[in-house]
Amino acid sequence: MKTRCLLFLALHLVAALTIAARASAEGQTPTPAQRPAATAAPAGNAENGKKLFTSYGCYECHGREAQGSTATGPRLGPRPLAFAALSKYVRQPTGQMPPYTSKVVSDADLADIYAFLQARPQPPALDSIPLLKPLINR
Ligand code: HEC
Repeated sequence: MKTRCLLFLALHLVAALTIAARASAEGQTPTPAQRPAATAAPAGNAENGKKLFTSYGCYECHGREAQGSTATGPRLGPRPLAFAALSKYVRQPTGQMPPYTSKVVSDADLADIYAFLQARPQPPALDSIPLLKPLINR
């Protein structure tokens, strides 16, 4: 009798916890309007992004192909940070880079720049560059 009672209680506990977990998960799920652009990069226009990358001067430090330079700014493409992280950094950089607020570079502009960065060609494999071959596999 006692064990049955305990089993009954345990089942109830499991059910209650399951319901509570589901409710709290639902509570945390942001509505589409609240959801940050973190999960998916917004659809942007790479052609326009290329123009903006030049006109906003990103290229001055990151290179025309966003290839970066050890002297001025890191490579940004073809695999940029997640959009939310990139956007956060551009708005509030923590290093040498100047900030670009949304008044200067709108979110739509940034989405286009992001599309441009993603569309950069992959760099060639190191062992496909004859000059570098002697340096690899040493
Ligand atoms: C004056 C030079 C300069 C300009 C102009 C500039 N950046 Fe930067 N950027 C940097 C430097 C330097 C860093 C490395 C971190 C730092 O010191 O802030 C950086 C870092 C970044 C990062 C973070 C990269 C990472 O992997 O952490 C992003 C994203 C970025 N820049 C995007 C942009 C975009 C987009 C523009 C144009 C709207 C731009 N930058 C214009 C110099 C610049």
